[in-house]
Amino acid sequence: MGDMGVVVGGLRLKNPVVAAAGTFGFGAEYGEILDPARLGAVCTKGLTLRPRDGNPPPRLWETACGLLNSIGLQNPGIDAFIREELPRMREQGITVIANVWGNSPAEYEQAVAILSEAGVDAIEINVSCPNVSRGGPVGEDARRTARVVRRARRVCPVPLWVKLPPAGGIAVARAAQEEGADAVSAVNTFRGMAIDIETGRPVFANVVAGLSGPAIKPIALRIVYELAGALMIPVVGIGGIDDWRDALEFIMAGAHAVQVGTANFVDPLAAARIVAGLERYMDEKGIEDWEVIRGSAQR
Ligand code: FUM
Repeated sequence: MGDMGVVVGGLRLKNPVVAAAGTFGFGAEYGEILDPARLGAVCTKGLTLRPRDGNPPPRLWETACGLLNSIGLQNPGIDAFIREELPRMREQGITVIANVWGNSPAEYEQAVAILSEAGVDAIEINVSCPNVSRGGPVGEDARRTARVVRRARRVCPVPLWVKLPPAGGIAVARAAQEEGADAVSAVNTFRGMAIDIETGRPVFANVVAGLSGPAIKPIALRIVYELAGALMIPVVGIGGIDDWRDALEFIMAGAHAVQVGTANFVDPLAAARIVAGLERYMDEKGIEDWEVIRGSAQR
């Protein structure tokens, strides 16, 4: 069998399938139904310096082939994460990517310094959450993104990934690359909304929420294809990946790895199922290395 392993922006993964932030808890909770260490890595829920309660309900709304969320980065804060969750993740042999969000470049810097010191394997800077900042996420603006990545980079000795919003475009991704990001993850959810026809009012208190799931896959795939063609650093593909064929499409578009998100809510075994499907595919096709097929659509 070929080697499923891949190095993504300095981070060695045993396979290219990562559980996306906010969709898989801290991974260790899944220990009774699967071995979370079987995944390439687990991205934590977006972590902040202080605990956050998140947005008022409702926070989830199903759409045709998709899911809108307005969680508002509910999380226990980085101190509780380091004290309670990180040791459990370590015990289970999980490769840990800490997804980090801040209110300002200084907050990002502080959180990244503390988390990388605490021994996570990599950091994923979240400049793309659509649910917490007025006027859209930082990652829709190249200059604001550059400021965040610059501050994070100077205190981050571990691999630094930057999770981008769909509307940032190549300019934002290049800004992240120029400021020293080791990889970009693309894409976070699309800004959408829903209206309750009984009340005539928006469903979500924030009006806008983040759309994910199969509904966004073809658009996410196009963005990953464009980024992979334009950047020197690796791209991690995200957006509606539901089975191993979807994952393969993203790899063929040029992604070094993929993240599985919304599919985990439908089937908690989705990410493990995708690993097994890719393994079978590699075996049947006699593929020894992802490089053989990575970016085939670009050539
Ligand atoms: O609202 C949320 O917690 C979503 C986070 C994200 O999309 O990164």
